[in-house]
Amino acid sequence: MYRVAVIGGDGIGPEIIKEGTKVLEAAGDRFGFSLDFEDFELGADRYLATGELLTDDDLEALSGFRTIYFGAIGDDRVPPGILEKGILLALRFHFDQYINLRPIRLLEGVATPLAGKKPSDIDFVVVRENTEDFYVGIGGRFKGSQKRVLEIQRELYHAKFGLDIESDAEEIAYQIGVVTREGARRVIRYACDTAQKRRKKLTSVDKANVLSDVYGLWREVFSEVTAGYPDIATEFNFVDAVTMWFVKNPEWYDVVVTPNMFGDIITDLGAMIQGGMGLAPGGNINPEGTSMFEPIHGSAPKYKGLGVANPMATIWAGSMMLDHLGEHEAAEKVLEALGQSILDGVVTRDMGGTSRTSDVGDYVAAMVKRH
Ligand code: IPM
Ligand code: MG
Repeated sequence: MYRVAVIGGDGIGPEIIKEGTKVLEAAGDRFGFSLDFEDFELGADRYLATGELLTDDDLEALSGFRTIYFGAIGDDRVPPGILEKGILLALRFHFDQYINLRPIRLLEGVATPLAGKKPSDIDFVVVRENTEDFYVGIGGRFKGSQKRVLEIQRELYHAKFGLDIESDAEEIAYQIGVVTREGARRVIRYACDTAQKRRKKLTSVDKANVLSDVYGLWREVFSEVTAGYPDIATEFNFVDAVTMWFVKNPEWYDVVVTPNMFGDIITDLGAMIQGGMGLAPGGNINPEGTSMFEPIHGSAPKYKGLGVANPMATIWAGSMMLDHLGEHEAAEKVLEALGQSILDGVVTRDMGGTSRTSDVGDYVAAMVKRH
């Protein structure tokens, strides 16, 4: 039996998670394991009612689980950033989920906007660092006399930007990106192990030509770690170039490892080339702790409760969770059943179909059980 914490969250989150758990239960029936889902009410409703985002009690309770199945958060009634930082990013950081694993794979029968590209051309994995970089939350905004905090930088600000930091008219904001040797090492190592099981090709995506301190260290660690994997072919790509190559030659890529912020950006691009946000899953992994699986799309508040949301990314994330738990055969079957649902045209309207959210969940669950 596997105990799984479930956070439906906001908007369409609870609806898609419902279909995901339905499919996971079907996989359990078929492959002889059971799942014990425990719901956690986190998100906008609770925040608006009580002011709470994620309490110490929540974290304590969640720490008793190996996996969390996460829907989506974000709500129009709450200013952007509060729920995202206070819940999603807080969970990733608290549980030190240092790997954000995002498969970019075009399934058979799915339309990609890339002309002439087939499923065999689009099949790679992005391993996004998930705890450092510009996500560490170190920054500030200063105006007028507050800017004394930046005193030490006064000459620099003046020389570089012509700013008189004493003046009330000028406002300064800054945000710091952090890369640590150990933070880079552990995620690059994981990417190497992943490449080892695949086509043995690993690309580092960074911007070491401009942000040369943080990504200079990243590159150094990349070279050191990959030296221990002589059978893996490695390369460095700049992030701007990658947005071009993902579109022109996606077949070039096998495993891509990248710092947090670029990983965020290029996986939305990846989602589009694999057929849209409705199909893109992700895992936030701490191999030794509590991991969390989620669709990479948001909560789409305007579709809440309409029964039209695409549950496929969530179902796929469920398959990744099974894989993480060691149920490899069941994980494979869920993905295969998802593929069958697509081939049989049981898809929601974002994919050109007429099926409802629950129709897709029912169909995939039935396919999982069929021998
Ligand atoms: C993602 C999302 C999050 C991120 C947001 C919602 C904080 O865009 O999972 O890619 O930036 O990581
Ligand atoms: Mg993102």
